[in-house]
Amino acid sequence: MRSPFKIGAIAASSKGLAREMAAQADLSLPGAVIELGGGTGSITRAILDRGVGYDRLYSVEFDHELAATLRHRFPRLHVVEGDAGELVPLMAARGVHQAACVISGLPLLGMPASVQHRILKAAFMLIAPGGRFIQFTYGPTTPTRPAIMRDLNLKARRAGHIMMNVPPRAFGATNGQKRARRCLNSLPSPTPASEVWRNDVYCT
Ligand SMILES: C[S@@+](CC[C@H](N)C(=O)[O-])C[C@H]1O[C@@H](n2cnc3c(N)ncnc32)[C@H](O)[C@@H]1O
Repeated sequence: MRSPFKIGAIAASSKGLAREMAAQADLSLPGAVIELGGGTGSITRAILDRGVGYDRLYSVEFDHELAATLRHRFPRLHVVEGDAGELVPLMAARGVHQAACVISGLPLLGMPASVQHRILKAAFMLIAPGGRFIQFTYGPTTPTRPAIMRDLNLKARRAGHIMMNVPPRAFGATNGQKRARRCLNSLPSPTPASEVWRNDVYCT
Protein backbone atom coordinates (compact mmCIF):
# COMPACT_ATOMS: atom_id res chain seq x y z
CA MET A 1 0.00 0.00 0.00
CA ARG A 2 1.31 3.46 -0.97
CA SER A 3 1.16 5.38 2.36
CA PRO A 4 0.58 2.88 5.15
CA PHE A 5 0.84 5.42 7.97
CA LYS A 6 -1.70 7.76 6.42
CA ILE A 7 -3.93 4.91 5.40
CA GLY A 8 -3.56 2.90 8.62
CA ALA A 9 -2.73 -0.47 7.10
CA ILE A 10 0.22 -2.33 5.67
CA ALA A 11 -1.90 -4.21 3.16
CA ALA A 12 -5.39 -4.16 1.73
CA SER A 13 -7.99 -6.14 3.64
CA SER A 14 -7.86 -9.85 2.88
CA LYS A 15 -10.68 -11.44 0.94
CA GLY A 16 -11.71 -13.33 4.07
CA LEU A 17 -12.00 -10.21 6.17
CA ALA A 18 -13.79 -8.31 3.43
CA ARG A 19 -16.26 -11.17 2.97
CA GLU A 20 -16.95 -11.43 6.70
CA MET A 21 -17.52 -7.71 6.98
CA ALA A 22 -19.89 -7.66 4.01
CA ALA A 23 -21.75 -10.63 5.49
CA GLN A 24 -22.67 -8.54 8.54
CA ALA A 25 -24.76 -6.08 6.54
CA ASP A 26 -28.53 -6.45 6.92
CA LEU A 27 -29.55 -5.75 3.35
CA SER A 28 -33.26 -6.05 4.11
CA LEU A 29 -33.17 -2.64 5.77
CA PRO A 30 -33.99 0.42 3.70
CA GLY A 31 -31.36 2.80 2.40
CA ALA A 32 -27.91 2.93 0.94
CA VAL A 33 -24.96 0.72 1.79
CA ILE A 34 -22.12 3.08 2.65
CA GLU A 35 -18.49 2.02 2.75
CA LEU A 36 -16.02 4.29 4.56
CA GLY A 37 -12.39 4.30 3.44
CA GLY A 38 -12.80 2.41 0.17
CA GLY A 39 -9.04 2.37 -0.43
CA THR A 40 -8.12 -0.06 -3.18
CA GLY A 41 -11.56 -1.65 -3.14
CA SER A 42 -11.15 -5.03 -1.47
CA ILE A 43 -14.15 -4.52 0.82
CA THR A 44 -16.04 -2.82 -2.03
CA ARG A 45 -15.57 -6.00 -4.09
CA ALA A 46 -16.92 -8.16 -1.27
CA ILE A 47 -19.97 -5.91 -0.82
CA LEU A 48 -20.74 -6.16 -4.54
CA ASP A 49 -20.21 -9.93 -4.42
CA ARG A 50 -22.71 -10.08 -1.57
CA GLY A 51 -25.27 -8.82 -4.08
CA VAL A 52 -25.45 -5.11 -3.34
CA GLY A 53 -26.20 -3.23 -6.55
CA TYR A 54 -24.19 -0.28 -7.79
CA ASP A 55 -27.30 1.86 -7.43
CA ARG A 56 -27.24 1.35 -3.66
CA LEU A 57 -23.53 1.33 -2.86
CA TYR A 58 -21.48 4.43 -1.98
CA SER A 59 -17.78 4.34 -1.17
CA VAL A 60 -16.31 7.29 0.74
CA GLU A 61 -12.57 7.88 0.31
CA PHE A 62 -10.68 11.08 1.09
CA ASP A 63 -7.43 10.26 -0.70
CA HIS A 64 -7.63 11.66 -4.22
CA GLU A 65 -5.49 8.96 -5.83
CA LEU A 66 -7.31 6.13 -4.10
CA ALA A 67 -10.65 7.63 -5.08
CA ALA A 68 -9.39 7.66 -8.68
CA THR A 69 -8.32 4.02 -8.30
CA LEU A 70 -11.80 3.10 -7.10
CA ARG A 71 -13.40 4.91 -10.05
CA HIS A 72 -11.08 3.11 -12.44
CA ARG A 73 -11.67 -0.29 -10.87
CA PHE A 74 -15.45 0.11 -10.48
CA PRO A 75 -16.65 2.57 -13.16
CA ARG A 76 -20.29 2.26 -12.01
CA LEU A 77 -19.58 2.77 -8.31
CA HIS A 78 -20.67 5.96 -6.51
CA VAL A 79 -17.27 7.13 -5.27
CA VAL A 80 -17.68 9.93 -2.73
CA GLU A 81 -14.41 11.79 -2.44
CA GLY A 82 -14.40 13.36 1.00
CA ASP A 83 -14.01 13.02 4.76
CA ALA A 84 -16.10 10.37 6.51
CA GLY A 85 -16.65 12.87 9.33
CA GLU A 86 -18.68 14.94 6.87
CA LEU A 87 -20.81 11.97 5.90
CA VAL A 88 -24.21 13.58 6.35
CA PRO A 89 -23.67 16.56 4.00
CA LEU A 90 -21.64 14.42 1.58
CA MET A 91 -24.52 11.97 1.25
CA ALA A 92 -27.23 14.65 1.30
CA ALA A 93 -25.55 16.21 -1.74
CA ARG A 94 -26.24 12.89 -3.49
CA GLY A 95 -29.83 12.67 -2.27
CA VAL A 96 -29.04 9.95 0.29
CA HIS A 97 -30.61 10.45 3.71
CA GLN A 98 -30.69 6.90 5.04
CA ALA A 99 -28.34 3.91 5.13
CA ALA A 100 -29.08 0.24 5.74
CA CYS A 101 -25.55 -0.01 7.16
CA VAL A 102 -22.13 1.58 7.19
CA ILE A 103 -19.16 -0.71 6.53
CA SER A 104 -15.93 0.89 7.66
CA GLY A 105 -12.44 0.17 6.39
CA LEU A 106 -11.18 3.18 8.31
CA PRO A 107 -8.28 2.79 10.73
CA LEU A 108 -10.60 3.83 13.57
CA LEU A 109 -8.29 2.54 16.31
CA GLY A 110 -5.54 5.01 15.46
CA MET A 111 -7.83 7.99 15.15
CA PRO A 112 -8.16 10.70 17.83
CA ALA A 113 -11.27 10.47 20.00
CA SER A 114 -12.79 13.61 18.50
CA VAL A 115 -12.47 12.19 14.97
CA GLN A 116 -13.92 8.83 15.99
CA HIS A 117 -16.83 10.60 17.65
CA ARG A 118 -17.54 12.73 14.59
CA ILE A 119 -17.46 9.73 12.24
CA LEU A 120 -19.65 7.48 14.39
CA LYS A 121 -22.15 10.24 15.13
CA ALA A 122 -22.46 11.07 11.44
CA ALA A 123 -22.86 7.40 10.52
CA PHE A 124 -25.65 6.87 13.07
CA MET A 125 -27.48 9.93 11.87
CA LEU A 126 -27.92 8.02 8.61
CA ILE A 127 -28.16 4.38 9.69
CA ALA A 128 -31.74 3.08 9.68
CA PRO A 129 -33.20 1.74 12.96
CA GLY A 130 -31.70 -1.71 13.50
CA GLY A 131 -28.84 -1.02 11.09
CA ARG A 132 -25.19 -1.61 11.85
CA PHE A 133 -21.82 0.07 11.73
CA ILE A 134 -19.34 -2.63 10.77
CA GLN A 135 -15.68 -2.13 11.67
CA PHE A 136 -12.48 -4.18 11.79
CA THR A 137 -9.58 -3.63 14.15
CA TYR A 138 -6.14 -5.03 14.94
CA GLY A 139 -6.55 -4.18 18.60
CA PRO A 140 -7.56 -6.46 21.48
CA THR A 141 -10.85 -4.66 22.18
CA THR A 142 -13.31 -2.46 20.38
CA PRO A 143 -11.48 0.48 18.75
CA THR A 144 -14.24 2.83 19.83
CA ARG A 145 -13.47 4.55 23.11
CA PRO A 146 -15.89 3.82 26.00
CA ALA A 147 -16.75 7.52 26.44
CA ILE A 148 -17.85 7.71 22.81
CA MET A 149 -19.90 4.55 23.13
CA ARG A 150 -21.63 6.02 26.18
CA ASP A 151 -22.19 9.39 24.58
CA LEU A 152 -23.71 7.93 21.43
CA ASN A 153 -25.47 5.16 23.35
CA LEU A 154 -23.82 2.36 21.42
CA LYS A 155 -22.86 -1.13 22.47
CA ALA A 156 -20.11 -3.21 20.85
CA ARG A 157 -20.45 -6.87 19.99
CA ARG A 158 -17.74 -9.03 18.53
CA ALA A 159 -18.84 -10.54 15.22
CA GLY A 160 -15.82 -12.47 14.02
CA HIS A 161 -12.11 -13.12 14.09
CA ILE A 162 -9.97 -13.42 10.99
CA MET A 163 -6.62 -15.16 11.16
CA MET A 164 -5.72 -15.11 7.49
CA ASN A 165 -5.14 -11.39 7.33
CA VAL A 166 -1.86 -9.49 7.40
CA PRO A 167 -1.87 -8.76 10.28
CA PRO A 168 -4.79 -10.73 11.74
CA ARG A 169 -7.92 -8.67 12.27
CA ALA A 170 -11.28 -9.15 13.85
CA PHE A 171 -14.51 -7.30 14.11
CA GLY A 172 -17.71 -7.27 16.13
CA ALA A 173 -21.15 -5.84 16.59
CA THR A 174 -22.42 -2.85 18.47
CA ASN A 175 -25.95 -2.14 19.60
CA GLY A 176 -27.16 1.40 19.38
CA GLN A 177 -29.59 1.45 22.27
CA LYS A 178 -30.84 4.94 21.60
CA ARG A 179 -33.35 4.99 18.74
CA ALA A 180 -33.06 1.19 18.66
CA ARG A 181 -30.06 1.40 16.38
CA ARG A 182 -27.37 -1.17 16.14
CA CYS A 183 -23.76 -0.86 15.24
CA LEU A 184 -21.10 -3.39 14.48
CA ASN A 185 -17.80 -2.69 16.02
CA SER A 186 -14.40 -4.26 16.03
CA LEU A 187 -13.13 -6.59 18.65
CA PRO A 188 -10.24 -8.91 17.92
CA SER A 189 -8.62 -11.13 20.45
CA PRO A 190 -5.32 -12.85 21.09
CA THR A 191 -7.24 -16.09 20.80
CA PRO A 192 -5.80 -19.29 19.27
CA ALA A 193 -6.53 -19.71 15.59
CA SER A 194 -8.50 -22.85 16.34
CA GLU A 195 -11.27 -20.91 18.04
CA VAL A 196 -14.25 -20.37 15.79
CA TRP A 197 -15.01 -16.72 15.98
CA ARG A 198 -17.37 -16.63 13.11
CA ASN A 199 -19.99 -18.36 15.21
CA ASP A 200 -19.65 -15.62 17.72
CA VAL A 201 -21.81 -13.19 15.83
CA TYR A 202 -24.44 -11.23 17.70
CA CYS A 203 -27.64 -10.50 15.87
CA THR A 204 -29.97 -9.26 18.57
C1 LIG B 1 -6.97 0.67 6.11
S1 LIG B 1 -7.31 1.46 4.57
C2 LIG B 1 -8.55 0.35 4.03
C3 LIG B 1 -8.80 0.41 2.59
C4 LIG B 1 -9.68 -0.69 1.98
N1 LIG B 1 -10.81 -1.03 2.78
C5 LIG B 1 -8.86 -1.89 1.68
O1 LIG B 1 -8.87 -2.88 2.41
O2 LIG B 1 -8.16 -1.83 0.67
C6 LIG B 1 -8.18 2.90 5.15
C7 LIG B 1 -8.70 3.82 4.07
O3 LIG B 1 -9.45 4.84 4.71
C8 LIG B 1 -9.17 6.09 4.07
N2 LIG B 1 -9.49 7.13 5.07
C9 LIG B 1 -8.84 7.38 6.23
N3 LIG B 1 -9.46 8.36 6.91
C10 LIG B 1 -10.52 8.74 6.17
C11 LIG B 1 -11.56 9.70 6.34
N4 LIG B 1 -11.61 10.48 7.43
N5 LIG B 1 -12.50 9.80 5.39
C12 LIG B 1 -12.47 9.02 4.27
N6 LIG B 1 -11.51 8.08 4.05
C13 LIG B 1 -10.55 7.95 4.98
C14 LIG B 1 -7.70 5.97 3.70
O4 LIG B 1 -7.35 6.87 2.67
C15 LIG B 1 -7.64 4.51 3.26
O5 LIG B 1 -7.92 4.35 1.91
